[in-house]
Amino acid sequence: MLKPLIKEILAQGQTPSYGDCIVRGWVRSKRELKNLIFVDVNDGSCFNSIQCTFDRARALSPETESGLATLSTGCSVEIQGRIAPSPASGQAVELVGISLRVLGTAPVETYPLQKKAHSIEFLREIAHLRARTNTIGAVARVRSRLSFAVHEFFQQRGFRYIHTPIITASDAEGAGAMFQVTTLDMDAIAKSGKAPDFHKDFFGKKSFLTVSGQLEAETYATALSRVYTFGPTFRAENSNTTRHLAEFWMIEPEIAFAELEDNMSLAEDFLKALFTVALNDCADDLAFFDARVEKGIVKTLHSVVDAHFTHITYTNAIVELEKNAAAFEFKPFWGCDLQSEHEKFLTEKVARGPVIVTDYPKEIKAFYMKQNDDGKTVRAMDVLVPRLGEIIGGSEREADLGRLEARMGELGMRLEDYWWYLDLRRFGTVPHSGFGMGFERLIQYITGMANIRDVIPYPRAVGQAEF
Ligand code: 4AD
Ligand code: MG
Repeated sequence: MLKPLIKEILAQGQTPSYGDCIVRGWVRSKRELKNLIFVDVNDGSCFNSIQCTFDRARALSPETESGLATLSTGCSVEIQGRIAPSPASGQAVELVGISLRVLGTAPVETYPLQKKAHSIEFLREIAHLRARTNTIGAVARVRSRLSFAVHEFFQQRGFRYIHTPIITASDAEGAGAMFQVTTLDMDAIAKSGKAPDFHKDFFGKKSFLTVSGQLEAETYATALSRVYTFGPTFRAENSNTTRHLAEFWMIEPEIAFAELEDNMSLAEDFLKALFTVALNDCADDLAFFDARVEKGIVKTLHSVVDAHFTHITYTNAIVELEKNAAAFEFKPFWGCDLQSEHEKFLTEKVARGPVIVTDYPKEIKAFYMKQNDDGKTVRAMDVLVPRLGEIIGGSEREADLGRLEARMGELGMRLEDYWWYLDLRRFGTVPHSGFGMGFERLIQYITGMANIRDVIPYPRAVGQAEF
């Protein structure tokens, strides 16, 4: 049996089984009022700290006395006492301390996390300690609960979890923003003046970190019908924004015998299910985000769960944007990639909530998307949400071998590199669809955190690989 967490102690406090108890955690603050000493202890198991009180009028052991004297924010402690109803507001119970043991000190002069507001930028520089703050601790708990919710959602609907490779030789998005993986001695090659010979590299060819598990997921969807991946993905995009990471976690369901409409309704159900879990199971953490990070976030999540997502084609979206062209720095036109100011307008002004944009021009979307008969657009869908823009991107896949090969040819792709992917269209091809959701974008949306670098423990971005 593991020792009880503060979350369990606080929960048990609501029943009449008050009694002897030991609290373990890190001191958030210490206050003194005449003979009374109040110590707030937090162990990260829940948002709340437990208040422990010591009364100097009662005889305390010398170890407890000296421990109390040295106590400062960040110290790790073990406090033995009795759980009792608390006279203070905002808490049902407190621990009436009997003895205290300091496990580890945290000197005031050197411990960077003192009890005052620290800027989120400063916390990023001490990412190894920032999980001890209210904000980053709450983010970590929400992340954990929602990871599990992703699995629950798919497992309850007959999807199988597939582990797709991290190292790959194919560019799944055809966008070229890949990190190369090599064991060649680049310094020696540079000195020799010769070009590197990748046939001599570890994998016998140029290899990369994956940008998406989709192509491999398609191979399993066309065998097991419904699959999903949930793993790290890597993009070497040089974009220094609040929504992009070089390493992020992506969830990619892939469904056989499914068309774009099925894909859209799965995406909507998925988001709503995840928001519902957050509202039900992360209420204390969300209350904090609502009060301190993004006012109204709880109400917004409730309203999204209750609303139908708006659907609009790319072509109609452009019509809406062109009507308001004056509002944009980047003038919208048919064929342009939607900029974040456009996405913001569509969600906040046109739909006033989440919107699914479909049927984009083929030129701005990936090679594998099903082509419409107009010869210009593809069965793509992006789910956009207010404040953030794109949270999900997906499509129905081109299931016809001839049309897929023709499109890849137009794009100058080497068909022989994708022989296995094309085999899916040669042997038992079926209509199929899927999408990808960036897990950090989801957590950003739910918590209201402004910068994606604060919803992953150790962000990887241009010029940033510390820790
Ligand atoms: O739109 P994307 O590039 O689509 C794909 O990768 C497809 N293979 C998905 C599929 O159909 N199976 O990426 C999907 C999602 C985006 O909507 C966004 O939420 C997230 O992944 N994303 C990023 N998140 C953080 N940092 C980045 N650099 C991201 N790039 C994409
Ligand atoms: Mg996309």
